[in-house]
Amino acid sequence: MSGHGDAQPMKSRRSGPLRGVAEVPGDKSISHRSLIFGAMAVGETRITGLLEGQDVLDTAKAMRAFGATVTRRGQGEWTVNGVGVGGFREPDDVIDCGNSGTCVRLIMGTMATTPITATFTGDASLRKRPMGRVTDPLSLFGARAYGRQGGRLPMTIVGAANPVPVRYALPVASAQVKSAVLLAGLNAPGETVVIEKEPTRDHSERMLVGFGADLQVEKTEEGHVITLKGQPELRPQAVAVPRDPSSAAFPVCAALIVEGSDILVPGVSQNLTRNGLYLTLVEMGADIEFRNPREEGGEPVADLRVRFSGDMKGIDVPPERAPSMIDEYPILSVVAAFSTGRTVMRGVKELRVKESDRIDAMARGLEACGVRVEEDEDTLIVHGMGAGGVPGGATVKTHIDHRIAMSFLVCGLAAKAPVAVDDGSPIQTSFPIFESLMRGLGAEIERG
Ligand code: S3P
Repeated sequence: MSGHGDAQPMKSRRSGPLRGVAEVPGDKSISHRSLIFGAMAVGETRITGLLEGQDVLDTAKAMRAFGATVTRRGQGEWTVNGVGVGGFREPDDVIDCGNSGTCVRLIMGTMATTPITATFTGDASLRKRPMGRVTDPLSLFGARAYGRQGGRLPMTIVGAANPVPVRYALPVASAQVKSAVLLAGLNAPGETVVIEKEPTRDHSERMLVGFGADLQVEKTEEGHVITLKGQPELRPQAVAVPRDPSSAAFPVCAALIVEGSDILVPGVSQNLTRNGLYLTLVEMGADIEFRNPREEGGEPVADLRVRFSGDMKGIDVPPERAPSMIDEYPILSVVAAFSTGRTVMRGVKELRVKESDRIDAMARGLEACGVRVEEDEDTLIVHGMGAGGVPGGATVKTHIDHRIAMSFLVCGLAAKAPVAVDDGSPIQTSFPIFESLMRGLGAEIERG
């Protein structure tokens, strides 16, 4: 799977109306964090609704390698008996993070201020991704990193024996880098400060407070200034993982472009650091009702009723919105292809260093489906062809990227001719029930 195993070709074709309830699995970001924070607490953390995708399973395995006891009790139900802040033991073997940037970057941060050595690797996609963005701030704590050219995996981190706290202004809008620095700061004496100009997903901050850390966030002219007091004793928690808004995006967008559709997607996060796609879709004219707003697992959520929207119009997506929808640009560009006019996505160069170069992967795939696109280093522009107007009829390369695979399978549900992907196996990393959930709504998706 995801570059380690056999490719799984998949195909989708124009489908009748999608109907029913789409219950998407647990949030990937919160799932990783619940395992890692649980491993840093003393005592038993109980998790429900954990995403059992390969990315999160790789984090669970890694936490065991560092000494935590991680046990699956039932579907999505897990316990973690933690070793306490600074209590990680040295792993016996290389830590394989598979396809997951969150796994490797957050765990590098967590071990960087403990006097142990660990070597990390991953699949062909992860081994291409830059780790310098994490190891640069970790070196300020006193950790040392030895990797391949360009700061690539495999990479060995030698944790700092006498860590010093750090004040660090993030050079890129990245929740993974922010979280790595905060996790390293947990085992440094004194106050670690992270400054972010544009707010990124804030799950680490919310959850660290829940686990008993002393963490303050101040809004200043510099941006968000996050101050964490080092060496707390973290208390185990009961974590109810809410559903993943990034996974919900696929059935939501499918319903918007498949004629006659009318579906309900319960419990979609309305967290302002995650809801950029939903704001954008509404601005484009999508028919989405936000029902029954409430709190679940510490996150604001709503149930989304989504109906086919035949006259969505392209917009200029504000670049400052990018961090709150960074994983959703691939599926947005599919919706843009079924809208009228241009959708302009600027300030998106971070997409080039995700599981694949997502600007390139979407541009090539959409072109193969007969859609006109323009791109530069930091921009993707899609020229819409209107409802039902995308020719399709292509086989698209997914580059070991789950979101590229799911985006084009959604595209095929409304295109004139079927759309195939060369490898759907990476979908297992984040949304293992994608195929069955979509078929349950009436989507014609098949293997081979
Ligand atoms: C994540 C942060 C984002 C996102 C990724 C999950 C996280 O990455 O793309 O899927 O859980 O912190 P960046 O920090 O690289 O933007």
